[in-house]
Amino acid sequence: MRSVRRISDARDLLAEQRRRGCSIGLVPTMGNIHAGHLALLERCREECDYSVVTIFVNPLQFGPNEDYAAYPRTFDEDREILARHGCNLLLHPSAEEVYGERPELTTRVHVPELSERWCGASRPGHFDGVATVVTRLLNFVQADTAYFGLKDYQQFLLIRKLAADLGLNTRIAGVETLREDDGLARSSRNAYLSAIERQAAPALYLTLCGITEEIRSGERDYSGIAARGRERLTLAGFKPDYLGICNAHTLRPAGIEDQELVILAAAFLGGTRLIDNLRLAIDPIPAA
Ligand code: PAF
Repeated sequence: MRSVRRISDARDLLAEQRRRGCSIGLVPTMGNIHAGHLALLERCREECDYSVVTIFVNPLQFGPNEDYAAYPRTFDEDREILARHGCNLLLHPSAEEVYGERPELTTRVHVPELSERWCGASRPGHFDGVATVVTRLLNFVQADTAYFGLKDYQQFLLIRKLAADLGLNTRIAGVETLREDDGLARSSRNAYLSAIERQAAPALYLTLCGITEEIRSGERDYSGIAARGRERLTLAGFKPDYLGICNAHTLRPAGIEDQELVILAAAFLGGTRLIDNLRLAIDPIPAA
C-alpha cells in the first residue's frame, strides 16, 4: 500500500493506474478504522481494480461544541489495518492541503433542503462541512465509484444528490450498516460509551425494529408511532434528539401515500450521540 499526504502525489499514482486501464474506487473516512469501514473497503475491492482510502478528520463538519479535538485519531493502527486489508493507496492530507491556507475563505458546498432536516437541524452547518469536503475528495480522486455507509443515511442521500447536481463522474454507492451481535451499529463513537452505556445502546436499534414491525402490521399513524419510539428510548436511558418516519428519498415526514420509508433516529447516551436508521418498503394501499 502506498501512503501519501500530498494530493499531487495521489494524482500522479492514480494517473498511472488509469493509464493501465484500472478502475478506481474511493472510500472516504475520518480514520479510526473499524469493521464498518472495512466492509466499505471490501465492497470497493470487489468492484474496482484499485482502492483508495482517505483519512481526514474534517474540521468543517464539527460544530463549535462538538468532538473535533477529542475525535479518535489512530493513524498508525489505521495504516497497518488498511495495508492488511488490501487497500492500494492511503491519502491522508493536512487541512491546509484540503482547504488552503485560509479555510475560512474556502468555497463551500450547500445542498438545500436535505441538509436542513433531522441531523442538519440538530447540527447546523454539519452537512455543509460534509458536502464541501466530499466534493473536494471526489474531485481529487476522480474515482469510478465512491463508497459510503448507509448508517449515515442522510449523508448518503446528500452526497448522491450533490454528485448528481454537480455532474460529478463518480458513482455513489451505499453499503449496508454493519452491526454488533446485539444490533448496535458499528461506529467510531461507540468507543466513547461506558460499560453501562454500551449495555443500553442496542435499544436504539431494537426501537427501530419495533417501529418497523408496527408499520408492517398495518399501523399508519406515523407521528404516534414515532412518539412512542421516543418514549421507549427515554425509558432505555437515552435522551432522544429526533426520531422520525420519513419518505426514504426526500426525508420529508412520511404520509399515508409513501411506500418507501426510512425510520431515522439520533439519541444521546450520556455525552455520546448515536444515530441509526432502518428502511422498509410497504405495500400500496388497496383501492377501495
Ligand atoms: O462519514 C464520514 O466518515 C465522514 O462524514 C466523511 C464522509 C468521511 C466526510 O468527512
